[in-house]
Amino acid sequence: MKILSTIVAAGFISSQVDASPVSKGTQLWRRFIASNVDDTPSYVQELNSSTYVYPQVETTEFFPMETCNGITLEDATIDQLQDYFSQGKLTSEDVVRCYLDRHMQVNPYVNSILQVNPDAVKIARDMDLERQAGIVRGPLHGIPFVVKDNYATKDKMDTTCGSYALLGSIVPRDAHVVKKLRDAGAVLFGHSTLSEWADMRTNDYSEGYSARGGQSRSPFNLTVNAGGSSTGSAGAVAANMIMFALGTETDGSIIDPAMRNGIVGFKPTVGLTSRAGVIPESEHQDSTGPMARTVRDAVYAFQYMWGIDDRDVYTYNQTGKTPEDNDYLKYLTDKQALKGAKFGLPWEKLWSLTNSAQLPRLLEVIEMIEAAGATVYNNTNFANLDVISSQGWDWQMGNVNESEFTVVKVDFYNNIKTYLSEVSNTNIKSLEDIVEYNYQYAGSEGGYPDVHPAFASGQDAFLDSLAWGGVKNETYWQAVEYVARTSRDEGIDSALNYTDPTTGENIQLDGLLVPSGLSITYQQAAKAGYPMITLPVGVLGNGRPFGLGIMQSAWQEPQLIKYGSAIEDLLNYKAKPQFLDYLGKNIPVW
Ligand SMILES: *[C@@H]1O[C@H](CO)[C@@H](O)[C@H](O)[C@H]1NC(C)=O
Ligand SMILES: *[C@@H]1O[C@H](CO)[C@@H](O)[C@H](O)[C@H]1NC(C)=O
Ligand SMILES: *[C@@H]1O[C@H](CO)[C@@H](O)[C@H](O)[C@H]1NC(C)=O
Ligand SMILES: *[C@@H]1O[C@H](CO)[C@@H](O)[C@H](O)[C@H]1NC(C)=O
Ligand SMILES: *[C@@H]1O[C@H](CO)[C@@H](O)[C@H](O)[C@H]1NC(C)=O
Ligand SMILES: *[C@@H]1O[C@H](CO)[C@@H](O)[C@H](O)[C@H]1NC(C)=O
Ligand SMILES: *[C@@H]1O[C@H](CO)[C@@H](O)[C@H](O)[C@H]1NC(C)=O
Repeated sequence: MKILSTIVAAGFISSQVDASPVSKGTQLWRRFIASNVDDTPSYVQELNSSTYVYPQVETTEFFPMETCNGITLEDATIDQLQDYFSQGKLTSEDVVRCYLDRHMQVNPYVNSILQVNPDAVKIARDMDLERQAGIVRGPLHGIPFVVKDNYATKDKMDTTCGSYALLGSIVPRDAHVVKKLRDAGAVLFGHSTLSEWADMRTNDYSEGYSARGGQSRSPFNLTVNAGGSSTGSAGAVAANMIMFALGTETDGSIIDPAMRNGIVGFKPTVGLTSRAGVIPESEHQDSTGPMARTVRDAVYAFQYMWGIDDRDVYTYNQTGKTPEDNDYLKYLTDKQALKGAKFGLPWEKLWSLTNSAQLPRLLEVIEMIEAAGATVYNNTNFANLDVISSQGWDWQMGNVNESEFTVVKVDFYNNIKTYLSEVSNTNIKSLEDIVEYNYQYAGSEGGYPDVHPAFASGQDAFLDSLAWGGVKNETYWQAVEYVARTSRDEGIDSALNYTDPTTGENIQLDGLLVPSGLSITYQQAAKAGYPMITLPVGVLGNGRPFGLGIMQSAWQEPQLIKYGSAIEDLLNYKAKPQFLDYLGKNIPVW
């Protein structure tokens, strides 16, 4: 197998072959990266156009995924790939090349990946050489992944949060979790598309759109709102363009797109995974986490992400709260674990507001969980329901000294300045600079209302943040305390500490089951900084998936891993992308 540069070089020396691929006609495009067959550059192979037809005409499926060296890569798991690697049936380089093929096949439609890492093949080859030398670093050795474009990667890629303002800027180092994943042997394939500035900039916007990345689309139905802000991370995993992806969440940005793309999203407790080197929103709420097709694959990534990092002081909070043997993988289990488990349904304001198209299937899933041996208690409600909006997701709800947005907008002003202080080769040093840039290039960045279809209200959320100016006065601290208290003690923790009204028995629940398609569920976990996982359970009439979420208290990842994997095993459910309305190019998405 060769990389592109090798092929080009071969073209210069091989006067014995026709070194003019273009004249060979249209058969060539598919394989111009390399031959998967032998060591001959693709354009010197004998071409037989009668043997090659576009896969689309051979099957009723849209965008069927080709096998990789005869092996089915579609929906393969990390364990399966490791098995193929160890048997010598596939190399990491093979997998990266097959994902490059997949990229060329579907990315023009779904636009999940914003930039491919020019070093991806080389990194994969290095991992293969290491394996040949007898070194296997762990389950991620040679496994390709993508990161949302707000993770700093110190390589040939740009880290821009989707904004042209940071193009060409130079980051000081890899984000901590990216470094950890590279050290674990994972192969960084590229940056994924996202909602620009992770949705911090604008209140009325097209989810998944960024000036640099364009509109990210769901492979289930290309016209729908695919969720965000980790839109491309979710879409890439769902469309089988990658093995796993990293997303970030301030309020729903992992759970929401994972849910809408029919995959697993895992948002860890704030402070368990470092945020250092990640373009921030709010130190109180930001979390970094994995997105994958299975709980097990997500947890493989998570296992190599968590830990203390001196560059993120919030990570010190995990001291004494993590497994003594440092192993989260051991909590992965099967449906047997549901026997004797105790879950709660926070009905008031959460289940009661569930979309009626999703409710029947969600209740069916609850019945299956009960039939598997779990007890599910209804009406394990939050003590403080006043802070939960009945009108859908709203982070500006309440008095200014009690609102989530007060915390986020003050944090953002300060946190972005700190992040930018270490970035060189750019004049962008502050929120003021970003806002000015968006005004100057309003045609692409939509700095003013109604000039760009993706940014209907311009950059109003940035302006709110700017107006406050990052001052941490009493109003801010009241909001910090209020948001934490009402979402933790009076919220998730109160619901988990359930007292049965008929027996008076006090029960500490193993988790709260929630409809993750309802935005005000993950909003409570976001405000609390608590962990959450979403699993795919069904698809709506328009082809768009939805999910079941599990919520827990701080540092209770073992419970989420245990019951997430158990319910996944029980359901044995997979949502397959149908690429409905694949010509959809609407902005905004619906
Ligand atoms: C091209 O492929 C077809 C179908 O496999 C085969 O019948 C034919 O002989 C091939 N032509 C050449 C020139 O190899
Ligand atoms: C964790 O650490 C940070 C900074 O050290 C602190 O401000 C925060 O309140 C701590 N607790 C939680 C639950 O995040
Ligand atoms: C839970 O209780 C509420 C009201 O108390 C009721 O409307 C709802 O149907 C119950 N849900 C289940 C699954 O039993
Ligand atoms: C804190 O600062 C903000 C922004 O200037 C202001 O609106 C608010 O009134 C201030 N609060 C106090 C208690 O001074
Ligand atoms: C917010 O301000 C109002 C009005 O001054 C006050 O009554 C309330 O107690 C404050 N909230 C908090 C959390 O301090
Ligand atoms: C749980 O609820 C019981 C009964 O209301 C209460 O006595 C206990 O203090 C609560 N536990 C915690 C940890 O809040
Ligand atoms: C795709 O989603 C849109 C928006 O929900 C819907 O109107 C359309 O019918 C869906 N397409 C198909 C083929 O179902």
